[in-house]
Amino acid sequence: MIYSKIAGTGFYIPKKIVTNDDLASYLDTSDEWIQRKIGIKERHVAAEGEVTSDMAAAAAEKALKNAGITADQVDLIILAANLPDHISPATAVQIQKKIGAENAFGFDIKCGGCPGLVYGITIGSKFIADGSCKNVLVTASDMNSRAIDWDDRLTAVILGDGASAVLLQASDKPGIIDTELHTDPSGYYGAYIPAGGTVEPITEQSLKERRQYFKMDGRAIFQFATTVFPDTVRSIVAKNNMTLDDIDFIIPHQANINIIKESMSKLGLPMERTFTNVDKYGNTGGASVGVALGEAIERGVIKKGDKVVLVSFGAGLCWGAVLLEI
Ligand SMILES: CC(C)(COP(=O)(O)OP(=O)(O)OC[C@H]1O[C@@H](n2cnc3c(N)ncnc32)[C@H](O)[C@@H]1OP(=O)(O)O)[C@@H](O)C(=O)NCCC(=O)NCCS
Repeated sequence: MIYSKIAGTGFYIPKKIVTNDDLASYLDTSDEWIQRKIGIKERHVAAEGEVTSDMAAAAAEKALKNAGITADQVDLIILAANLPDHISPATAVQIQKKIGAENAFGFDIKCGGCPGLVYGITIGSKFIADGSCKNVLVTASDMNSRAIDWDDRLTAVILGDGASAVLLQASDKPGIIDTELHTDPSGYYGAYIPAGGTVEPITEQSLKERRQYFKMDGRAIFQFATTVFPDTVRSIVAKNNMTLDDIDFIIPHQANINIIKESMSKLGLPMERTFTNVDKYGNTGGASVGVALGEAIERGVIKKGDKVVLVSFGAGLCWGAVLLEI
């Protein structure tokens, strides 16, 4: 049996900061509302000219450095991105070029929303398990600033830009213990971008109505998130004959501090058993669990030997979890 372990993590957050007060200077919102309802103080947005693959490559280089391997040792690059460099071809190929992974192949995945890294880890660990790859670079990069309508106060306040990466490596004992993925079409239109696909190609009219931007039913997503987060954590832990006492940290998608608080409370766990950075970065989409995991490891909060559940949820509806030992 060939197992996978996380040999290195990395994340990248662009420099430019947009504060709640910056948004309140032109939108009907306030720092008080955003902090109370979402827990975000500020978010970062990419520089002009910076693209999805730049952010992913920066996160990937950090993950490779932390894993102690060079780019030519990477066999496979997986990218999860809601907004790729181009609709076609795959942005993973640009990451391959930017980091110099000359022996790798790569492809993009789209699970819908924010569990991109969780889906990528699941797929990557299967390429390791069948013996075809030894080093798989899983990246998630979401340049949300170019997918949102900055004049829509509901969505403009919640999102930020960022990328994360994990280097999965073949191992004789399990680092990745188990993974679990789900989708549910009943909430397909709860969070989506109406125009730009085959259902609604972009027209002058769709641009006028700003239908090329992300739309969301916030209340429905909140309800969904606070249900699947605790349910999925319980499910993956029980499936592996463990209890919540065996888990050192739950690292959830950083969508909203109130989603995290309510879900941790449903699990009967204190906030000390999680790590949050939604206040600094907002919701960085598919990257967010990797940004939180990477930062928790960098700060020494999560240490070697810790058992961790990554749990994420988002548009699709889709959700999933990874049970792992660092
Ligand atoms: C977005 C979210 C914070 C809104 O909170 P909520 O309690 O559901 O708020 P509602 O949408 O019911 O709106 C409550 C009021 O706040 C207002 N409001 C919405 N956005 C606002 C903003 N940025 N600033 C101030 N007020 C705002 C609404 O218009 C509404 O006003 P009304 O009562 O006069 O009609 C919350 O639903 C949420 O976090 N959902 C999850 C979203 C998510 O995680 N998405 C991930 C991407 S898929």
